[in-house]
Amino acid sequence: MIKHLRSAADLDAATATLILDTAGEMAALSGREVKKLPALRGRTVVNLFYEDSTRTRISFEAAAKRLSADVINFSAKGSSVSKGESLKDTALTLQAMGADAVVIRHSASGAPHRLANWVDGSVVNAGDGTHEHPTQALLDAYTMRSRLGRLDGLKVAIVGDVLHSRVARSNVLLLTTLGAQVTLVGPPTLIPLDVAAALAEKTQVSYDLDAVLPDSDVVMMLRVQTERMQDSYFPSAREYSRRYGLDVARMKKLPEHAIVMHPGPMNRGMEIAPEVADSPRSTIVEQVANGVSVRMAVLYLLLGGK
Ligand code: ASP
Ligand code: CP
Repeated sequence: MIKHLRSAADLDAATATLILDTAGEMAALSGREVKKLPALRGRTVVNLFYEDSTRTRISFEAAAKRLSADVINFSAKGSSVSKGESLKDTALTLQAMGADAVVIRHSASGAPHRLANWVDGSVVNAGDGTHEHPTQALLDAYTMRSRLGRLDGLKVAIVGDVLHSRVARSNVLLLTTLGAQVTLVGPPTLIPLDVAAALAEKTQVSYDLDAVLPDSDVVMMLRVQTERMQDSYFPSAREYSRRYGLDVARMKKLPEHAIVMHPGPMNRGMEIAPEVADSPRSTIVEQVANGVSVRMAVLYLLLGGK
């Protein structure tokens, strides 16, 4: 087993499949009256969050607690980071407290790689800048596999703000490792040529959502990440929505069996219409629930739980 999960590229097909299978076993637990396993008793998991999060932070906490680990939640706001303390000094402080795993979210791409040089425990990337979010990709793959029965040969359209999306990057790496065919869809400004070229070996690129939908098993809508935009990438929210938003009329172009995903949080009415987000095709709430099982599997396997 790998020691760290910094990138979806850390996972070969066998390791990724082992995590998904283990997540399936963890999910069976959530139906039981007593949800706890003693697997990580006496181990310490630190959640080190320098960027805001709802789903990821809470589900890592729930996952570690269900495995009986001790959990320390650190958020940069309200910590000595505001006094100028560096990531390295913060890491050494956590190290002194004996962290067996550090789950990190940080605005700097590559922060988990640097952290892994400073701590003895496992490092899990919970989202670094615009770079990667590997456990999101794992929970997305888990959701696709449980809804559609397979990943190999599955046609997945990832739609929208690819440029700023760590979710897209990790999904491209993981899904193609597991045999899915990925098409990136969005305005050219949000899938610039260098990004398209970097991913070209693994994916196709289209600027025409209506053309891609009829041939997709999965459509994954991405949030438009205005907080990461310094320029204007499209004329207006309305225009973006008209070309790349998933509304009810567009959803009807999907094959009968196709599912609609979104990592959350959503801009309802922009990249996804509320009726679509709340429709039976939508797996958005399921993705969150699956996130706990997948993160339990990751912590369990990385820490060599018994
Ligand atoms: N929550 C995901 C992330 O942190 C996706 C998003 O924010 O749009 O990357
Ligand atoms: N999908 C996701 O990572 O959500 P949060 O930013 O709320 O953790």
